[in-house]
Amino acid sequence: MRRAAEKTVAAIAIFFLCALRVLCGESDKRLQQLNPAAWGSDHVGKPVPEYLTGDECLFCHRADVGPAWTSNRHHRTIHEADVESTPLAALKKSAPLQKFAEEVKLLLGGNQHLRYLKPAKCYGKLELLSVAWATSGNHEGGRLISPNNPHWDAQRFQEACAGCHTTGVDSKNQTFSSLSLDCYVCHGDANLQHSKDSSLMLLAKKRKDPARVVMSICAQCHGRTGNSISTGLPYSNNFVAGDNLFRDFKVDFSSERIAALNPADRHVLENVRDVVIGKEEVTCLTCHEVHKQSSKKHHQVAQGDTCLNCHHPTGSKKIRKSYEVHSSTCGY
Ligand code: HEC
Ligand code: HEC
Ligand code: HEC
Ligand code: HEC
Ligand code: HEC
Ligand code: HEC
Repeated sequence: MRRAAEKTVAAIAIFFLCALRVLCGESDKRLQQLNPAAWGSDHVGKPVPEYLTGDECLFCHRADVGPAWTSNRHHRTIHEADVESTPLAALKKSAPLQKFAEEVKLLLGGNQHLRYLKPAKCYGKLELLSVAWATSGNHEGGRLISPNNPHWDAQRFQEACAGCHTTGVDSKNQTFSSLSLDCYVCHGDANLQHSKDSSLMLLAKKRKDPARVVMSICAQCHGRTGNSISTGLPYSNNFVAGDNLFRDFKVDFSSERIAALNPADRHVLENVRDVVIGKEEVTCLTCHEVHKQSSKKHHQVAQGDTCLNCHHPTGSKKIRKSYEVHSSTCGY
């Protein structure tokens, strides 16, 4: 009995391994045949639309969206520097860094990694301090990174970061319209008539946007490793939610490239690739609820290869693989 069961298990395991290899080979092949740029439109070379700001949206959505929005990581990716905060206190404590601490006005990130910023002389640009901060698990501790040779960099933020950490970026002049991430980055150039017919608003429940539209929205920033074809910058050229990102954004979806990423970026790019090659059942929103900042929904999703980024193939899902997130795009 036991022998037979073992044999069956081995046979199943071999079957899955073979299936996996065929699937990987197949997705690479399908990628080569497919043209991800085939549908939809883009805003390359056009002006950034005059979008409604978050304050205007929250005038009507204060009760449903407002309370949780204050602490949403999208809203807070760039936030005012609190003079009492641990990362700023650490700068102040070091004699050579003290004068920089006084100039810091804004902070970027902070969950794992944090950068110090100040407004540049011209509007819509920021300067990035060469010194960074790594948060340790408990949010209280942490350490300074590259504290030697501190200097402000006036170019780097515009050239390498703005498109995914600020809103309404003009790639040509490399300026942003507002700090941090506003409703516009996901809901697009909103039509006020949506208050009567919510299907006019991207991502509204009634609308049921196709997977490829949702994927373009999230991948404009979460597709880390890609770059714009027209500008060569590591962020999209004037992407407006509803556009097809892949008309002007190139990401290497080959199995080798995806396998080399950390589990955080890997599960994202696997999902984006699957939708690009036409497997549209699962998107980010199957697992993530943006406004609730929750991924509890993922417990209900059918077991598949992507689960193995974080869980083991068998045994309790309470057990997870531990991993560290690194990104050459973000420099951490
Ligand atoms: C314009 C850029 C941008 C877009 C568009 C965007 N994100 Fe994000 N997202 C970020 C950044 C930046 C962070 C990290 C912010 C930080 O910690 O400073 C983040 C964090 C997250 C996180 C981790 C924090 C959390 O809430 O649990 C999830 C999950 C996430 N995004 C999902 C999505 C999904 C799903 C979409 C598409 C509907 C999306 N994002 C669209 C830039 C973006
Ligand atoms: C293609 C879009 C993109 C570009 C370009 C980009 N970022 Fe990010 N960044 C993200 C996303 C998405 C996250 C969240 C990833 C996650 O939580 O897994 C993030 C996270 C971060 C974090 C960590 C946030 C935290 O709370 O731990 C820091 C710091 C950061 N980025 C800094 C930068 C800097 C500095 C640059 C420019 C050198 C840059 N990023 C360029 C998309 C981008
Ligand atoms: C990072 C992407 C992102 C940003 C930024 C964003 N939303 Fe959303 N929003 C979504 C997604 C995705 C949904 C669909 C439901 C879900 O998954 O949470 C949604 C749903 C909604 C809903 C429907 C009610 C609900 O909670 O499901 C409202 C209203 C809304 N958003 C308003 C706003 C407003 C106002 C802002 C700016 C203050 C904003 N959103 C910013 C992604 C975003
Ligand atoms: C004049 C008031 C008003 C303004 C301003 C406004 N909305 Fe709405 N919004 C509404 C009303 C009313 C509804 C319909 C609610 C319903 O059908 O349940 C709605 C519905 C939505 C929905 C769909 C909700 C769902 O249940 O799926 C989203 C998403 C949304 N708004 C986002 C936004 C965003 C983003 C902005 C700013 C760009 C914005 N709204 C500005 C009044 C407003
Ligand atoms: C099969 C479910 C599933 C899908 C599909 C999925 N995610 Fe996730 N994702 C998760 C889970 C679960 C976590 C871990 C959440 C936690 O740590 O509490 C996670 C973590 C993340 C994080 C935080 C990573 C970190 O540790 O810094 C980001 C950002 C993210 N997902 C974005 C996305 C985006 C964007 C998409 C779509 C392209 C996507 N995810 C698709 C389940 C999923
Ligand atoms: C990016 C990492 C990530 C991915 C991918 C992921 N999970 Fe998870 N999973 C987590 C984290 C973190 C938790 C603990 C937080 C929570 O409960 O959501 C968790 C918890 C769970 C739990 C609850 C375990 C318990 O009893 O407490 C289930 C069930 C689960 N995952 C199933 C899945 C399935 C099925 C997939 C694939 C479709 C998957 N996960 C993919 C990170 C991930």
